Amino acid sequence: MQSETEFVRGRNGIIYRGCGNFVLTVKSSITTAKQLAQTYLEANNPTGWFEELYTLANWDETAIPWADLTVNPNLSAWLQREQVRGEGKKALVIGCGLGDDAEALSQLGFEVVAFDIAPTAITWCGKRFPESQVTYSVVDLFEATESWQGYFDFVFESRTLQALPAELRAKAIKIIPQWVKLGGKLLVICRGRDSHQPEGEIPWPLTREELTVLQQYGLTEVSFEDYWDEKNPPVRRFRVCYSSRNNSYNS
Ligand SMILES: C[S@@+](CC[C@H](N)C(=O)[O-])C[C@H]1O[C@@H](n2cnc3c(N)ncnc32)[C@H](O)[C@@H]1O
Repeated sequence: MQSETEFVRGRNGIIYRGCGNFVLTVKSSITTAKQLAQTYLEANNPTGWFEELYTLANWDETAIPWADLTVNPNLSAWLQREQVRGEGKKALVIGCGLGDDAEALSQLGFEVVAFDIAPTAITWCGKRFPESQVTYSVVDLFEATESWQGYFDFVFESRTLQALPAELRAKAIKIIPQWVKLGGKLLVICRGRDSHQPEGEIPWPLTREELTVLQQYGLTEVSFEDYWDEKNPPVRRFRVCYSSRNNSYNS
């Protein structure tokens, strides 16, 4: 397993892998993230690489491949279209990264809890948004507090499921619905693929069939959008909204 000390941060998000005085390879932040993920997967620690990547980045957002430093446009377009208002409502942001989506929900009036498994990501959110109304917490979604059961009017998941290997993804899909209040909503935004297409490499696109399992845990699908986003090159996305028909984990 490679240790984090083998990597050195350079300018503009480029990460150099050093060996003594020699630079062996020059890698983009995406390549680094993929290699770290692979290393940790092989070591049976599929979520350990997130903290290492954030630490390695050393407060330079360009080293974090998903850090757009703005609200996810797939979320903001949905919020606008649905005319979402958050006053008097509670929202939960899963795997919040550097916090832009949590802040956008807070701006809409939601009382927001945003969590991430990586302590450095949570510290980073605090540095970026010192006046924030959001409650940022270090939490592993697989070990979340029972007090969240049926607690949130709006739960938002974007790009965390696709960063988890299939076995963990399936586990997460059974946990997430329990946080949605009766009558509340879950919005999932992820890469999408057809089930006959290969899973490929991380970030792993989800299939519609995988997401359908959410409906065995108390949720009803309200809308399912399958589209190519405006990235260059475009990425196939699923944006799926569910409502909670009850708040029982095992229903
Ligand atoms: C690909 S990033 C996406 C971040 C953010 N949602 C976004 O769209 O910009 C996935 C995030 O999920 C976090 N994460 C991964 N596994 C997690 C877990 N088990 N519990 C909580 N957060 C997790 C990572 O630390 C990382 O910040």
